[in-house]
Amino acid sequence: MSRSSMNRRDFTRLFAMGGSTALLGHPSFEGFAAPTLTSASLQPGAVDWQQVRSQFLMPPDVSVLNAANLCPSPARVLETLSEYTSRLDRAPFPSFRSEIGAAKERTRDLLAAYLRVTPEEILITRNTSEANNWVSNGLDLGPGDEVLIFSDNHPSNNQAWKAKGERHGYTVREVAQVNPHPGAEYYLEAFERAITPNTRVLTFMHLSNTAGDLFPAKELCALARSRGIVSLVDGAQSFGLLDVDLSDIQPDFFSGSSHKWPCGPKETGVLYVNSSMHEAFWPSMYSAYTGQRGLSRTHEGMGQRDTPALHTFGTQIEFLQSIGQNEIEARSRDLATQLIEGLNRIEGVHMWTPAQPERRAAVVTFRPGELDPRRVVAALEEDGIVAAARGGSDRSGIRFSPHFYNMEVDVERAVEAIGRYMRTGL
Ligand SMILES: Cc1ncc(COP(=O)(O)O)c(C=O)c1O
Repeated sequence: MSRSSMNRRDFTRLFAMGGSTALLGHPSFEGFAAPTLTSASLQPGAVDWQQVRSQFLMPPDVSVLNAANLCPSPARVLETLSEYTSRLDRAPFPSFRSEIGAAKERTRDLLAAYLRVTPEEILITRNTSEANNWVSNGLDLGPGDEVLIFSDNHPSNNQAWKAKGERHGYTVREVAQVNPHPGAEYYLEAFERAITPNTRVLTFMHLSNTAGDLFPAKELCALARSRGIVSLVDGAQSFGLLDVDLSDIQPDFFSGSSHKWPCGPKETGVLYVNSSMHEAFWPSMYSAYTGQRGLSRTHEGMGQRDTPALHTFGTQIEFLQSIGQNEIEARSRDLATQLIEGLNRIEGVHMWTPAQPERRAAVVTFRPGELDPRRVVAALEEDGIVAAARGGSDRSGIRFSPHFYNMEVDVERAVEAIGRYMRTGL
């Protein structure tokens, strides 16, 4: 039976059968067959990472070490997304529209359980940038108020506060980054010293995208809370990498993107809003198709959305949980340790990321001697390795961010390539 001759019931049956069967023959997945991940390959403490790796489309000779920027999704996620998207165009009957619309609430439940908070506190955004901006849009701040930022924060955080400060008349103060990472105590004291009676908001990155510095999120949020200050933790680099427990960290706001470390669909993200903030937080947008629970009923009206992506975001959270977020964190950290050790052995490499595990996670940045970072990234591409470059005069260099889909061979390849460029030039 051809796809076009199927009736509605056939479709329902086919899609209930699950992704790979339904999409067999789809051009995007031609020649690709992901082996089923069984519980035997996902034993706690003995995960078969090669099996996990085989869920992704990258051929074995491509080493993607760029999780801090954009992650690949497992084939199953791409298949689900593609199936739901084509079905939306092929047979968009009202029952399917409501089924896929309702999936947003399922994703909300999954996100809440994953972050250990309540679904009433979860907003599903388009990315971290939007989530951060919703926070700077949604708080009543004005003349006399101060916002305390960390100097390295992403533009969606720092540039937003500065521009809105100019508009609304509040002041933005900065805690400067220090390299190498001077330790959690240093930053706790630096933030404490910078707080004044006028400080209303304190915001920092859980894990920095610049030097890969890990911040004492729980302690900084506790400091803010003890002074009646609102905390925003930018989790773009921790969500999907670390085993983030918001019931322990207790921020007022936490933001993240699905397309980074969670390996979920593009252009979906999350904003956690502590229930204690709901009364004091304004929506940024008013439109139809709000969420159905808690804050999402008033703050998530964003008009027509990519419902297949919202559904698939949840599917991907289930995928991460089937492996275990603690396993994923440990694996990524291990690979980062190997990378740091290997790169540190190369003469002329200057590491920006701290070696101590309590000061970093899996974002690794370094200066490859006098080599031009952009040319290094281009050479790495020739060698089948995906990395990011950082230009400018402030901690310029290369960023590798290994994740659970990488194998040791990816790390070895990257270290070998950098060593070769350093020895022989580009
Ligand atoms: C710390 C941090 N915050 C926010 C963002 C923005 O993420 P997105 O582009 O998904 O909105 C990034 C992106 O790299 C980031 O590293």
